[in-house]
Amino acid sequence: TDAPLVLGIETSCDETGVGIVRGHELLADAVASSVDEHARFGGVVPEVASRAHLEAMVPTIERACETAGVRLHDVDAIAVTSGPGLAGALLVGVAAAKALSVGLGKPLYGVNHLAAHVAVDQLEHGPLPEPCLALLVSGGHSSLLRVGDVTGDVDPLGSTIDDAAGEAFDKVARLLGLPFPGGPHIDRAAREGNTVAIDFPRGLTSRRDLERHRFDFSFSGLKTAVARWVEARERSGEPVPVHDVAASFQEAVCDVLVRKALDAATSQGVDDLLIGGGVAANSRLRVMAEERAASRGIRVRVPRPGLCTDNGAMVAALGAEMVARNRPASALDLPADSSLPV
Ligand code: KG4
Ligand code: ZN
Repeated sequence: TDAPLVLGIETSCDETGVGIVRGHELLADAVASSVDEHARFGGVVPEVASRAHLEAMVPTIERACETAGVRLHDVDAIAVTSGPGLAGALLVGVAAAKALSVGLGKPLYGVNHLAAHVAVDQLEHGPLPEPCLALLVSGGHSSLLRVGDVTGDVDPLGSTIDDAAGEAFDKVARLLGLPFPGGPHIDRAAREGNTVAIDFPRGLTSRRDLERHRFDFSFSGLKTAVARWVEARERSGEPVPVHDVAASFQEAVCDVLVRKALDAATSQGVDDLLIGGGVAANSRLRVMAEERAASRGIRVRVPRPGLCTDNGAMVAALGAEMVARNRPASALDLPADSSLPV
């Protein structure tokens, strides 16, 4: 076909991702993670992530080309996450993308990481409905976005005022003695637990909070409530029911995320809700969103779990969309911007 062949590079956190797409077709999605190197610290260590990106970059590019069955010279454009994320980590990807752009003589497209989490869904479910409402939940972000056009018209309606949803999963997992990153472990433990065993708080849902923070999230109170509950249990000498705590905590997070996302969609008169970011891999969130959305006539799109967590294909997908919409390419002094807004 004539659709442009785009290579995307993602290095905003601990995943070195290189994806190759042709239009909306996914050809390769190579990811090298340094997560094991961070696990013993209980969180991502920026310096460790930067060094790991540097070591993984060239082999990951080679692996992606091999999988896609293309040579670097066939690539029509290079896309790269220019922010937001860890400054040093971003810099490695941006430098690599500039080198490829100059070396191959192909245009460079700096893209926003959050918008890329939205654009990736096109690789699985085809063109995004416009406008749509996006719930973006990851280790670093929890946002509600109104997306008119993923390459430029993205309007934030609200976000977390403290911890990100994924951060809450990771912190609660740590409290329960589960490995980092905790999201998938809580997800698994919760399957054998009771969702109504413990009534944990739903942040920013009181009538008063809704006045000022209708589409914002807060998870630090929930995390503290779980910590207090677990401590009280330990003091009493009784065993901590890990499955029930995991299930009740997860229910509280998903309840707030889905409630606010559907409320936002309704308030914007939008019929399509897209969920993206690492926490979108959560099995309970997916089911709950489907169920509650159906009763309100809202359609839900969630990419498969492998495309929800950080990867290069999402960057390539957004780059391809920028090429398709004739967006201007980035200049060669494209900065890495750790706090790039959507
Ligand atoms: O999007 P992502 O890969 O990286 C960031 O941009 O932050 O998201 C990582 C986050 C971690 O906090 C991880 O615990 C969480 O996504 N996560 C999950 C699940 N899989 C990954 N949280 C809940 N349930 C899951 N199944
Ligand atoms: Zn992410």
